[in-house]
Amino acid sequence: MSRTCKVLLLLLALVSGLAARHPVRERKAIVVAQEPHATEVGVDVLRAGGNAVDAAVAVAFALAVTYPVAGNLGGGGFLLYRSAQGETEFFDFRERAPAAASRDMYLDSSGNLTRESMIGWKAAAVPGTVHGLETAHKKYGSKPWASLLAPAIKLAYGFPVSYALAESLRFSAKLLDRFPESRRIFLRDGKYFEPGDKLVQPELARTLQRLARGGAKEFYEGETARKLAAEMKANGGLITQEDLRNYRTVMRRPLEGSYKGYQILTAPPPSSGGVGILQMMGMLEPSGYEKYGAGSAAAIHFVAETMRRYYADRSEHLADPDFHPVPLSALLNPQYLAKRRASIRPDRATPSDEVKAGDFHLPESAETTHFSIVDPAGNAVALTYTINGGYGNGVTVPGLGFLLNNEMDDFAAKPGVPNMFGLVQGEANAIQPYKRPLSSMTPTIVLKDGKLFMVVGAPGGSRIITGVLQVILNVIDFGMNVQEAIDAPRFHHQWRPDQLSLESGFSPDTIELLKQRGHQIRSIPNVALVEAIVVENGFLAGGSDRRAHGKAAGF
Ligand code: GLY
Repeated sequence: MSRTCKVLLLLLALVSGLAARHPVRERKAIVVAQEPHATEVGVDVLRAGGNAVDAAVAVAFALAVTYPVAGNLGGGGFLLYRSAQGETEFFDFRERAPAAASRDMYLDSSGNLTRESMIGWKAAAVPGTVHGLETAHKKYGSKPWASLLAPAIKLAYGFPVSYALAESLRFSAKLLDRFPESRRIFLRDGKYFEPGDKLVQPELARTLQRLARGGAKEFYEGETARKLAAEMKANGGLITQEDLRNYRTVMRRPLEGSYKGYQILTAPPPSSGGVGILQMMGMLEPSGYEKYGAGSAAAIHFVAETMRRYYADRSEHLADPDFHPVPLSALLNPQYLAKRRASIRPDRATPSDEVKAGDFHLPESAETTHFSIVDPAGNAVALTYTINGGYGNGVTVPGLGFLLNNEMDDFAAKPGVPNMFGLVQGEANAIQPYKRPLSSMTPTIVLKDGKLFMVVGAPGGSRIITGVLQVILNVIDFGMNVQEAIDAPRFHHQWRPDQLSLESGFSPDTIELLKQRGHQIRSIPNVALVEAIVVENGFLAGGSDRRAHGKAAGF
């Protein structure tokens, strides 16, 4: 090869190298969250000697102020923890249905679904966030509780609105405008926020101050509980003081599995996500799909077919395990997954009508947000929490300053009829008092040789599971760094509707090859917004999703 050719090739390699974004690399600690103020709050807590759980509590409260689209006091979520010594814990603080909830509460007199599971007071399930954060802090926190709420309180007294927040509020104006307190606080009664304006939330600041003094007891039994229950009663909502007083975080064992020698710790039911990740990995592992290459039509097709099969099972078998016997070992049984894998044709999409959920005869006993944290000792937290839709049910509780969730829509409000995310769900996930709705939130930790390798999770409704899966596959199977793995275009299939959804960024030739295999292609803006950390060569590498406005930072 001539010298000129070599120089040209070198230049080309350099240019294409420059085209890929690099992760943020730090030696000791890192926080990746979807809003920069909240990331900074977490980093400050770690710098001051707090551990990953301290930082998680502070970030979660900060997001409740600076990221109202999903950060919350009025929602719920999951926190997956792994200590540097290998102790693991899964805190389930998912919302649950109030006592007065009933199976058909969202059907009108003709049996048709109303929109009340999505919008307004009746859509709210009993919030779990404050209880969950306090439970995790009591078990693993090291800094005083009140000190972890202090940054959020300060932010609630005013912080500059970013371009992203101004845009998000304007985008959701139709929903927020329906409820006077939301219209007043978040839309300034029609004088929309511009970037650089200050968002001041004194009611929220006072609620946070009470929580700093009184802890979760204040939220579930104190003035906050009394006000929330009174407003519920006055506005046709169902949550009572008793519902609040009875709320409990549930400690569960993380779901464990493996993929190509990596150990996977992930979310158990009532999340459907961990089962999803492990089922799809179980179908993929011995398939050799990766030899076709990242982003190739053949690889996308194979992974999409595993998605289709998993979501068929999700619809039938997954629900709150305290109410429905989830057949976990059957769903994750290697022989079952081998049969599912064998039914995938490399050259042809299987119509969803031909894919049924597995038949197990022996039953066994847009918006969400995620952040990942690793502290200097090596403790890790993956936390995903949510009020479900962007700005939840649209209601800000007068005098309390926080938005409520519309998590009741994650139930099968009418089994067999799609919910907000187009998910078709069955009887197992029908509404019952005190039950937790099935979730897709998938906070996950990956280990290599018994050591921390990756902390990952995402918001994105039903697409969380496939988004998280693809980022892990991009790292393990295709050798991408965490930022490349997150930035690569993603795809999604959820069995019904029978469509393969693609983000932008796939080549026309690839799309044509997928169509030739029989896939019905649909374009979507994103498949989840993934925030992840990977341990590489003695560094912590943090990747924040290019599709969002978050930030990775550390020291
Ligand atoms: N609300 C979204 C989820 O939990 O899946």
